Formats: sequence, structure tokens, C-alpha cells
Amino acid sequence: MNATKRPAHAPTVITFASSKGGVGKSTCSAAIAGALAARGDKVTILDLDDNGTLFRWHQKHGAKLRNIAVTRAAPDTFNDTLNQAKATDARYIIIDVAGAFEATMIKAIAASTVVITPAKLSEPDLREAGKILAEVNAFNQRFNADIQHRVLINEAESLNPMYQRHALAEVDASALVRFEHLMNRRAPYREIFITGYPPHFAGKGRATVEKAVTELNDIVAEIDAILTNTTKAKAA
Ligand SMILES: Nc1ncnc2c1ncn2[C@@H]1O[C@H](COP(=O)(O)OP(=O)(O)O)[C@@H](O)[C@H]1O
Ligand SMILES: [Mg+2]
Repeated sequence: MNATKRPAHAPTVITFASSKGGVGKSTCSAAIAGALAARGDKVTILDLDDNGTLFRWHQKHGAKLRNIAVTRAAPDTFNDTLNQAKATDARYIIIDVAGAFEATMIKAIAASTVVITPAKLSEPDLREAGKILAEVNAFNQRFNADIQHRVLINEAESLNPMYQRHALAEVDASALVRFEHLMNRRAPYREIFITGYPPHFAGKGRATVEKAVTELNDIVAEIDAILTNTTKAKAA
């Protein structure tokens, strides 16, 4: 038998993956981790990016980030680091991958229940999302797996509403499946790496923070629904 201590419930692995930088992987990882942590779920973030954005964030601000741990992993330490994180009492493991198409990203995808690609409503971002979807589909087919892929439209409101509707319709006509709720461009997301606080930790009273909290809760509810459905499908 496996000698490593296993928690009663293996953590759910969610990977934020895009081969493109600057789409919001680290921001979304921290914001969603904050939403999960605020409701009492322990989250371990695996930071696979060379830049160590989330690792440095947590080194500096970890004391005020209840229920959030961040571990750094390199390609050669990924498997061990993931197994160590799985053996803790974390309820969720969030993986923030490097912004490049490389082997560790494929490993992270393979370890995931849900893969999320943040993308602006722009052709290059959506094209990258399509590449990740193709990778997830290929893996599912090859290993008879059921890894879910979703696009999270980020910085949505930077477009005028008419163009936004048109762009969303185009996404919906494609093979990509997106979160119904969008992430808008908001100062509290940018502030995560300045003040250290994800929106859920930023304190009440600012309308813009409240809006970010509401939209993150809506996205987390969608994640919950995906996880419920995949659990049901497995049981059936
Ligand atoms: N929804 C958002 N609202 C405001 N700023 C955002 C949002 N998403 C990302 N950003 C900003 O865009 C930049 C790139 O985001 P980041 O999360 O570092 O991308 P990635 O990890 O994919 O390279 C950062 O400066 C971040 O603050
Ligand atoms: Mg990043």
C-alpha cells in the first residue's frame, strides 16, 4: 500500500493554463484562490512560472492570506511538489503555469479536473485557448479521461457592448466552452500584487471591490457546478 498519508478527500486540481503571457493566469489564480479561501477552503497554489509571481506575492503577504499556501515548482520538481501538495489537507490545488507551451504545462493539465484558460476577447488570446482545448481533448481521448476545459473571459468590459456581444457570440459558436460570468477589468485585480489582498480579503466598503467579489463568487459557483457534474459522471 501507499505509505504516504492521504487526506480523506483528495484535493481538486484546477490549472490556469495559456501558452500566452499577460492573459491573467496569475491574477485569476490569486483571485479565485482568495474566493475559495474566504469561504473556508484551504488552497495550495503551485507556482510553475519562472517569474514566481505568486510565490513572491505569498512570501511578502502570506501572513494575511488565511487558508492560502504557495509552493514553487520547476519542471523537474513538479511531480514531487504536486504529490506533496496532495498529501496535505488542502481542498484545492491551483496551478499557475508558465506562459509557454512546454512539458510541465501538459503534466499540469493531465493532473487537473478543470483547466481554465483566461483570455481577453481578442483573436490571439482565444487562439491560445483553442490550443489548450485541443491539448485537453487529445489527452481525454488518449486516456479516456474527462478533464474539463473552460475559457474565462478576462478584462471583458474594455470593449464596447456591441462588439462584446459579437465577440461572445463568436466564442459560443466555436468549440470553446466559456464561463457564463466574465471577469471585468477592475482595479482590485491589479491591486492583488500591490497591496497583497485578493478582492475577498480587501475589506468591505469599496463598490469596486464588492463588484469583484460578486463576480468571483459567480465564477466559483460555476466551478462548483462543473465539479459536481464531473463527480456525478464518474459515479454513473
Ligand atoms: N481583470 C483584470 N483587471 C485588471 N487588471 C488585470 C486583470 N487581469 C489581469 N490584469 C493585469 O494584467 C497584467 C497581466 O496579468 P497576469 O495575471 O500577470 O497575467 P499572466 O499570469 O497570464 O501572465 C497584470 O498587470 C494584471 O494586474
Ligand atoms: Mg503569470
